[in-house]
Amino acid sequence: MSQPIDVLGGITAEQFLSEYWQKKPLLVRNALPEIANILEPNDVMELALDENVTARLIKQKDKDPNQWTVKTSPLIKGDFQKMPKLWTLLVQAIDHYSFDLAEMWKKFPFIPQWRRDDIMVSYAPKGGSVGKHFDFYDVFLVQGYGHRRWQLGQMCDADTDFIAGQPLKLLPEIDVNFDEVLAPGDFLYVPPGLSHYGVAEDDCLTYSLGFRMPNISDMMDRVSEKFATNTILRNPLLDIARTNPTQVGEMTPQELSYLKAELLAHLQDSSILDDAIMSLMAESKYPENIPEVDEIGTGDLEAALDQGYLLMLEPASRLLYTEQEHELLFWANGEAICISKAFTPILKAIADGQAILLDAKLANEDILEDIAHLLNESILMLLPPVEE
Ligand code: SIN
Ligand code: CO
Repeated sequence: MSQPIDVLGGITAEQFLSEYWQKKPLLVRNALPEIANILEPNDVMELALDENVTARLIKQKDKDPNQWTVKTSPLIKGDFQKMPKLWTLLVQAIDHYSFDLAEMWKKFPFIPQWRRDDIMVSYAPKGGSVGKHFDFYDVFLVQGYGHRRWQLGQMCDADTDFIAGQPLKLLPEIDVNFDEVLAPGDFLYVPPGLSHYGVAEDDCLTYSLGFRMPNISDMMDRVSEKFATNTILRNPLLDIARTNPTQVGEMTPQELSYLKAELLAHLQDSSILDDAIMSLMAESKYPENIPEVDEIGTGDLEAALDQGYLLMLEPASRLLYTEQEHELLFWANGEAICISKAFTPILKAIADGQAILLDAKLANEDILEDIAHLLNESILMLLPPVEE
């Protein structure tokens, strides 16, 4: 990966990761021209009214733009009546609704799939914004339609104060050291903690490719869920080797250490721990967006071989693997999955972002069974051939 990358303005992935990622912003003009006009403001308005979509409508009062309101989905037509001058509509997981947008992740192959969160789109008329703020995560902002002015400022952290009494975590001020107007296709990387303020210059759509990291509490919860289902661990432990009597009210440091050591020994049982972390990271953020599909059998797949179908990851699903003792283990949509040895290299390629041609090379009983199973679970999808 030491080639200069267009989307990064000609620097290499290594340079981006070592100099910018999690550290400082990067602006690249015309980095993703193909994103321009995939969606128009009306498409976003329509989608926001879909009852399954996660969306927020943010308004600023005409009389006092420092007073904000937020209405979360489900949104209805009435929410868009009597609109103030300044407002923003945010729609999450737009990559689950637009295949072309889901493809945008592939422009960033140097960030692994498990770090991806979703692509949010914001729509605002001239002057609209979500206020001065910072996020705890990395975000790739890509201008999709119209223009947005971005100001970047100081780094913030968990101790930073917000304006009191507002439904959004807004900063009172930012010390602007970057001030640029983004046009369709322009890209801006904003690292975690960096204050930013984006104001629509005209009717504009901005995409935020967000990245996630687990927090310790979520991982702990998942680990304890995995331990809770292990009945052997529900048996009481044996007592510490006791020789001399101790004070009745005391739990001695040795007794406490013994219990902690037993707990830590089990926590270090890597198969449970790995399963807990992998299943958490392979969880879909919006499982309700995973489509239900018509049951497919291996016979249907055989008939579809060599017809030009492409096998790929369903955009709303997640598929990860890790190597353990020279074997690849897979997790998808929050669960460990078992597949045949023959299918392993193919599924690895799909998890790595490739689309695989459904051709005669896959005509193997184990492989077709695995494919049918993963299609029926909507972990994978078949893209039909493009008609000439
Ligand atoms: C926006 O597009 O208006 C908000 C995106 C962000 O600030 O992260
Ligand atoms: Co932000």
